[in-house]
Amino acid sequence: MDVENGFVNEPIPEGTDIREEIIRLKKEKDAVVLAHYYQKGEIQDLADFIGDSLALAQIARKLPNRVIVLCGVHFMGETAKILCPDKKVLVPDVNAGCSLADSCPADEFAAFVKEHPGHTVVSYVNTSAAVKALTDIVVTSSNARKIVDALPKDEKLIFGPDRNLGNYISSVTGRDMVVWDGACHVHEQFSVEKLVQLKNEYPGAKVLAHPECKKAVLLLADKVGSTAALLKYAQESDEKEFIVATESGILHEMRRSCPDKTFIPAPPSDSTCACNDCSFMKLNTLEKLYNTLKYEQPEITVDPVVAEKALKPIERMLAMS
Ligand code: 13P
Ligand code: SF4
Repeated sequence: MDVENGFVNEPIPEGTDIREEIIRLKKEKDAVVLAHYYQKGEIQDLADFIGDSLALAQIARKLPNRVIVLCGVHFMGETAKILCPDKKVLVPDVNAGCSLADSCPADEFAAFVKEHPGHTVVSYVNTSAAVKALTDIVVTSSNARKIVDALPKDEKLIFGPDRNLGNYISSVTGRDMVVWDGACHVHEQFSVEKLVQLKNEYPGAKVLAHPECKKAVLLLADKVGSTAALLKYAQESDEKEFIVATESGILHEMRRSCPDKTFIPAPPSDSTCACNDCSFMKLNTLEKLYNTLKYEQPEITVDPVVAEKALKPIERMLAMS
Protein backbone atom coordinates (compact mmCIF):
# COMPACT_ATOMS: atom_id res chain seq x y z
CA MET A 1 0.00 0.00 0.00
CA ASP A 2 1.48 3.32 -1.08
CA VAL A 3 1.16 6.50 0.89
CA GLU A 4 0.23 9.25 -1.52
CA ASN A 5 0.42 12.87 -0.43
CA GLY A 6 1.09 11.92 3.18
CA PHE A 7 -1.80 9.56 3.92
CA VAL A 8 -3.41 6.33 2.74
CA ASN A 9 -6.05 7.40 0.25
CA GLU A 10 -7.85 4.06 -0.17
CA PRO A 11 -11.61 4.06 -0.67
CA ILE A 12 -13.47 2.64 2.33
CA PRO A 13 -16.00 -0.04 1.32
CA GLU A 14 -19.56 1.21 1.44
CA GLY A 15 -21.45 0.19 4.56
CA THR A 16 -18.28 -0.02 6.72
CA ASP A 17 -18.96 0.96 10.31
CA ILE A 18 -15.76 2.96 10.66
CA ARG A 19 -15.98 3.31 14.44
CA GLU A 20 -16.54 -0.43 14.98
CA GLU A 21 -13.76 -1.26 12.53
CA ILE A 22 -11.32 1.05 14.29
CA ILE A 23 -12.07 -0.68 17.60
CA ARG A 24 -11.65 -4.10 15.95
CA LEU A 25 -8.44 -3.16 14.12
CA LYS A 26 -6.86 -1.78 17.29
CA LYS A 27 -7.22 -5.26 18.88
CA GLU A 28 -6.22 -7.18 15.75
CA LYS A 29 -3.09 -5.09 15.21
CA ASP A 30 -2.10 -4.72 18.87
CA ALA A 31 -2.33 -0.98 18.32
CA VAL A 32 -3.04 1.82 20.73
CA VAL A 33 -4.43 5.20 19.68
CA LEU A 34 -3.11 8.31 21.44
CA ALA A 35 -4.88 11.59 20.68
CA HIS A 36 -3.98 15.16 21.50
CA TYR A 37 -6.71 17.42 22.91
CA TYR A 38 -6.73 19.39 19.63
CA GLN A 39 -7.91 16.40 17.58
CA LYS A 40 -11.43 16.26 16.20
CA GLY A 41 -13.88 15.13 18.90
CA GLU A 42 -14.73 11.90 17.07
CA ILE A 43 -11.06 10.88 17.17
CA GLN A 44 -10.70 11.78 20.86
CA ASP A 45 -13.77 9.61 21.56
CA LEU A 46 -12.14 6.54 19.97
CA ALA A 47 -8.67 7.07 21.42
CA ASP A 48 -7.28 4.88 24.17
CA PHE A 49 -5.60 7.90 25.74
CA ILE A 50 -6.03 11.64 25.26
CA GLY A 51 -3.62 14.18 26.64
CA ASP A 52 -1.34 17.15 26.20
CA SER A 53 2.04 16.81 24.53
CA LEU A 54 3.81 15.86 27.77
CA ALA A 55 1.26 13.21 28.73
CA LEU A 56 1.35 11.67 25.25
CA ALA A 57 5.15 11.30 25.46
CA GLN A 58 4.95 9.88 28.99
CA ILE A 59 2.25 7.38 27.99
CA ALA A 60 3.97 6.34 24.73
CA ARG A 61 7.10 5.40 26.62
CA LYS A 62 5.26 2.93 28.83
CA LEU A 63 3.04 1.19 26.27
CA PRO A 64 3.42 -2.54 25.68
CA ASN A 65 1.69 -2.45 22.26
CA ARG A 66 3.34 -3.21 18.92
CA VAL A 67 1.84 -0.19 17.15
CA ILE A 68 1.26 3.39 18.34
CA VAL A 69 -1.08 5.56 16.28
CA LEU A 70 -0.38 9.12 17.29
CA CYS A 71 -3.35 11.31 16.39
CA GLY A 72 -1.64 14.64 16.65
CA VAL A 73 1.01 16.44 14.64
CA HIS A 74 4.25 15.20 13.14
CA PHE A 75 6.60 16.28 15.95
CA MET A 76 4.44 14.31 18.43
CA GLY A 77 4.84 11.20 16.26
CA GLU A 78 8.59 11.82 16.09
CA THR A 79 8.82 12.16 19.86
CA ALA A 80 6.98 8.86 20.31
CA LYS A 81 9.26 7.17 17.77
CA ILE A 82 12.40 8.53 19.45
CA LEU A 83 11.15 7.23 22.80
CA CYS A 84 9.99 3.90 21.36
CA PRO A 85 12.35 3.07 18.47
CA ASP A 86 11.27 -0.57 18.34
CA LYS A 87 7.60 0.21 17.88
CA LYS A 88 5.75 1.08 14.72
CA VAL A 89 4.60 4.69 15.12
CA LEU A 90 1.92 5.89 12.73
CA VAL A 91 0.30 9.30 12.20
CA PRO A 92 -2.90 9.25 10.08
CA ASP A 93 -1.72 12.20 7.95
CA VAL A 94 1.95 13.09 8.00
CA ASN A 95 1.15 16.50 6.51
CA ALA A 96 0.01 17.36 10.03
CA GLY A 97 2.92 19.68 10.68
CA CYS A 98 3.14 22.62 13.06
CA SER A 99 3.67 26.25 12.12
CA LEU A 100 5.69 26.75 15.29
CA ALA A 101 8.03 23.83 14.58
CA ASP A 102 8.30 25.08 10.98
CA SER A 103 9.33 28.53 12.23
CA CYS A 104 12.57 26.97 13.46
CA PRO A 105 14.54 25.21 10.68
CA ALA A 106 17.36 23.12 12.15
CA ASP A 107 20.16 24.74 10.11
CA GLU A 108 19.12 28.25 11.19
CA PHE A 109 18.73 27.13 14.79
CA ALA A 110 22.21 25.57 14.69
CA ALA A 111 23.63 28.93 13.55
CA PHE A 112 21.67 30.72 16.31
CA VAL A 113 23.07 28.35 18.94
CA LYS A 114 26.57 28.93 17.55
CA GLU A 115 26.12 32.69 17.87
CA HIS A 116 25.49 32.22 21.61
CA PRO A 117 28.32 30.03 22.89
CA GLY A 118 28.13 28.83 26.49
CA HIS A 119 24.32 28.84 26.57
CA THR A 120 22.14 25.93 27.65
CA VAL A 121 19.64 25.22 24.87
CA VAL A 122 16.06 24.79 26.09
CA SER A 123 13.66 23.76 23.32
CA TYR A 124 9.92 23.50 23.35
CA VAL A 125 8.72 20.04 22.31
CA ASN A 126 7.06 21.67 19.26
CA THR A 127 10.24 21.21 17.22
CA SER A 128 11.62 18.77 14.69
CA ALA A 129 13.81 15.87 15.82
CA ALA A 130 16.74 17.69 14.17
CA VAL A 131 16.20 20.74 16.42
CA LYS A 132 15.86 18.50 19.48
CA ALA A 133 19.22 16.97 18.52
CA LEU A 134 20.74 20.47 18.98
CA THR A 135 19.07 20.86 22.38
CA ASP A 136 20.20 20.34 25.98
CA ILE A 137 16.74 19.97 27.47
CA VAL A 138 13.27 19.75 25.97
CA VAL A 139 10.25 21.29 27.69
CA THR A 140 6.51 21.32 27.10
CA SER A 141 4.05 23.98 28.19
CA SER A 142 3.29 21.73 31.21
CA ASN A 143 6.78 21.68 32.63
CA ALA A 144 8.69 24.63 31.09
CA ARG A 145 8.41 26.77 34.21
CA LYS A 146 9.47 23.98 36.57
CA ILE A 147 12.42 22.96 34.40
CA VAL A 148 13.71 26.48 33.75
CA ASP A 149 13.38 27.21 37.49
CA ALA A 150 15.43 24.11 38.28
CA LEU A 151 18.34 25.01 35.97
CA PRO A 152 21.31 26.49 37.83
CA LYS A 153 20.93 30.28 38.08
CA ASP A 154 24.34 30.94 36.55
CA GLU A 155 23.50 29.02 33.36
CA LYS A 156 22.82 31.27 30.38
CA LEU A 157 19.78 30.08 28.46
CA ILE A 158 18.57 29.96 24.88
CA PHE A 159 14.85 29.27 24.51
CA GLY A 160 13.28 28.20 21.24
CA PRO A 161 11.22 28.37 19.21
CA ASP A 162 8.11 30.06 20.69
CA ARG A 163 8.65 33.74 21.57
CA ASN A 164 5.39 33.98 23.52
CA LEU A 165 6.05 30.93 25.69
CA GLY A 166 9.71 31.96 26.04
CA ASN A 167 8.87 35.49 27.15
CA TYR A 168 6.15 34.21 29.48
CA ILE A 169 8.55 31.70 31.12
CA SER A 170 11.18 34.41 31.39
CA SER A 171 8.68 36.70 33.15
CA VAL A 172 7.48 34.10 35.67
CA THR A 173 10.91 32.66 36.47
CA GLY A 174 12.83 35.94 36.32
CA ARG A 175 15.39 34.23 34.06
CA ASP A 176 16.92 36.16 31.20
CA MET A 177 16.76 34.05 28.06
CA VAL A 178 17.78 34.52 24.45
CA VAL A 179 14.49 33.71 22.73
CA TRP A 180 14.06 32.44 19.17
CA ASP A 181 11.52 34.51 17.25
CA GLY A 182 8.95 31.85 16.38
CA ALA A 183 5.20 31.60 16.94
CA CYS A 184 2.11 29.47 16.37
CA HIS A 185 -0.31 30.75 13.76
CA VAL A 186 -3.33 29.71 15.87
CA HIS A 187 -2.34 31.20 19.22
CA GLU A 188 -1.13 34.48 17.73
CA GLN A 189 -4.57 35.09 16.25
CA PHE A 190 -6.61 35.81 19.37
CA SER A 191 -7.93 39.35 19.43
CA VAL A 192 -7.33 41.33 22.63
CA GLU A 193 -10.16 43.79 21.81
CA LYS A 194 -12.67 41.01 21.23
CA LEU A 195 -11.52 39.20 24.35
CA VAL A 196 -12.13 42.35 26.41
CA GLN A 197 -15.62 42.67 24.86
CA LEU A 198 -16.34 39.03 25.69
CA LYS A 199 -15.20 39.52 29.28
CA ASN A 200 -17.68 42.41 29.55
CA GLU A 201 -20.45 40.21 28.16
CA TYR A 202 -19.61 37.40 30.60
CA PRO A 203 -18.32 39.27 33.67
CA GLY A 204 -18.18 36.09 35.79
CA ALA A 205 -16.23 34.05 33.24
CA LYS A 206 -12.67 32.97 33.91
CA VAL A 207 -10.22 33.37 31.04
CA LEU A 208 -8.05 30.33 30.28
CA ALA A 209 -5.08 30.87 27.95
CA HIS A 210 -2.31 28.74 26.52
CA PRO A 211 1.15 30.32 26.97
CA GLU A 212 1.65 30.38 23.19
CA CYS A 213 -0.79 33.33 23.13
CA LYS A 214 0.51 36.89 22.87
CA LYS A 215 1.45 38.68 26.09
CA ALA A 216 -1.57 41.02 25.89
CA VAL A 217 -3.89 37.97 25.93
CA LEU A 218 -1.96 36.31 28.76
CA LEU A 219 -2.30 39.47 30.85
CA LEU A 220 -6.09 39.09 30.64
CA ALA A 221 -6.03 35.43 31.69
CA ASP A 222 -7.03 34.00 35.07
CA LYS A 223 -5.14 30.81 34.26
CA VAL A 224 -2.22 30.34 31.88
CA GLY A 225 -1.24 26.74 31.21
CA SER A 226 -0.90 23.77 28.93
CA THR A 227 -4.02 22.16 27.49
CA ALA A 228 -4.04 19.66 30.37
CA ALA A 229 -3.58 22.41 32.97
CA LEU A 230 -6.43 24.49 31.51
CA LEU A 231 -8.70 21.45 31.48
CA LYS A 232 -7.82 20.61 35.10
CA TYR A 233 -8.46 24.19 36.18
CA ALA A 234 -11.90 24.17 34.54
CA GLN A 235 -12.75 20.78 36.07
CA GLU A 236 -11.72 21.80 39.57
CA SER A 237 -13.09 25.35 39.56
CA ASP A 238 -16.36 26.29 41.23
CA GLU A 239 -16.95 28.82 38.44
CA LYS A 240 -19.44 27.99 35.69
CA GLU A 241 -18.25 30.03 32.68
CA PHE A 242 -14.87 29.99 30.94
CA ILE A 243 -13.47 31.85 27.96
CA VAL A 244 -10.90 29.59 26.30
CA ALA A 245 -7.93 31.06 24.43
CA THR A 246 -6.39 28.01 22.83
CA GLU A 247 -7.14 25.70 19.93
CA SER A 248 -10.82 24.77 19.71
CA GLY A 249 -10.30 20.99 20.04
CA ILE A 250 -9.87 21.27 23.82
CA LEU A 251 -13.50 22.39 24.10
CA HIS A 252 -14.59 18.83 23.31
CA GLU A 253 -13.06 17.34 26.46
CA MET A 254 -13.92 20.41 28.56
CA ARG A 255 -17.60 20.13 27.60
CA ARG A 256 -17.62 16.33 27.91
CA SER A 257 -16.10 16.30 31.37
CA CYS A 258 -17.91 19.42 32.70
CA PRO A 259 -21.41 19.20 31.20
CA ASP A 260 -22.81 21.78 33.64
CA LYS A 261 -20.26 24.46 32.68
CA THR A 262 -20.14 26.84 29.72
CA PHE A 263 -17.03 27.15 27.57
CA ILE A 264 -16.75 30.05 25.15
CA PRO A 265 -13.99 30.04 22.53
CA ALA A 266 -11.93 33.24 22.54
CA PRO A 267 -12.42 35.02 19.21
CA PRO A 268 -9.67 35.35 16.63
CA SER A 269 -9.02 38.81 15.07
CA ASP A 270 -10.54 37.70 11.78
CA SER A 271 -14.04 36.52 12.63
CA THR A 272 -14.59 35.12 9.12
CA CYS A 273 -11.93 32.43 9.52
CA ALA A 274 -11.80 29.35 11.71
CA CYS A 275 -8.42 30.56 12.97
CA ASN A 276 -8.67 28.92 16.37
CA ASP A 277 -8.75 25.56 14.61
CA CYS A 278 -5.24 24.22 14.01
CA SER A 279 -5.44 23.25 10.33
CA PHE A 280 -2.62 20.72 10.88
CA MET A 281 -4.27 18.96 13.82
CA LYS A 282 -7.54 18.77 11.91
CA LEU A 283 -5.94 16.95 8.95
CA ASN A 284 -6.40 13.69 10.84
CA THR A 285 -9.86 12.26 10.21
CA LEU A 286 -11.70 9.12 11.23
CA GLU A 287 -11.34 7.77 7.67
CA LYS A 288 -7.58 8.33 7.69
CA LEU A 289 -7.33 6.73 11.14
CA TYR A 290 -9.20 3.69 9.83
CA ASN A 291 -6.89 3.34 6.81
CA THR A 292 -3.83 3.90 8.99
CA LEU A 293 -4.81 1.04 11.26
CA LYS A 294 -5.75 -1.18 8.34
CA TYR A 295 -2.61 -0.64 6.24
CA GLU A 296 -0.19 0.34 9.07
CA GLN A 297 0.83 3.45 7.16
CA PRO A 298 2.07 6.18 7.10
CA GLU A 299 4.90 5.33 9.41
CA ILE A 300 7.06 7.88 11.24
CA THR A 301 10.78 7.31 10.86
CA VAL A 302 13.62 9.26 12.43
CA ASP A 303 17.24 9.05 11.31
CA PRO A 304 18.88 6.88 14.04
CA VAL A 305 21.81 9.30 14.49
CA VAL A 306 19.42 12.24 14.96
CA ALA A 307 17.15 10.11 17.17
CA GLU A 308 20.01 9.16 19.47
CA LYS A 309 20.94 12.83 19.96
CA ALA A 310 17.32 13.94 20.36
CA LEU A 311 16.56 11.24 22.93
CA LYS A 312 18.89 12.72 25.57
CA PRO A 313 17.13 16.09 26.01
CA ILE A 314 13.73 14.37 25.92
CA GLU A 315 14.79 11.86 28.59
CA ARG A 316 16.21 14.73 30.64
CA MET A 317 12.85 16.47 30.45
CA LEU A 318 10.92 13.35 31.45
CA ALA A 319 13.22 12.81 34.42
CA MET A 320 12.57 16.38 35.60
CA SER A 321 8.78 16.35 35.02
P1 13P B 1 0.24 21.24 24.94
O1 13P B 1 1.63 21.00 25.38
O2 13P B 1 -0.53 22.09 25.89
O3 13P B 1 -0.43 19.98 24.62
O4 13P B 1 0.27 22.10 23.61
C1 13P B 1 0.78 21.61 22.43
C2 13P B 1 0.53 22.52 21.32
O5 13P B 1 0.77 22.21 20.19
C3 13P B 1 0.00 23.83 21.63
O6 13P B 1 -0.32 24.48 20.48
FE1 SF4 C 1 1.60 23.77 16.21
FE2 SF4 C 1 0.02 25.80 16.82
FE3 SF4 C 1 -1.03 23.60 15.77
FE4 SF4 C 1 -0.06 23.59 18.30
S1 SF4 C 1 -1.83 24.75 17.53
S2 SF4 C 1 0.28 22.05 16.73
S3 SF4 C 1 1.68 24.99 18.08
S4 SF4 C 1 0.41 24.99 14.76
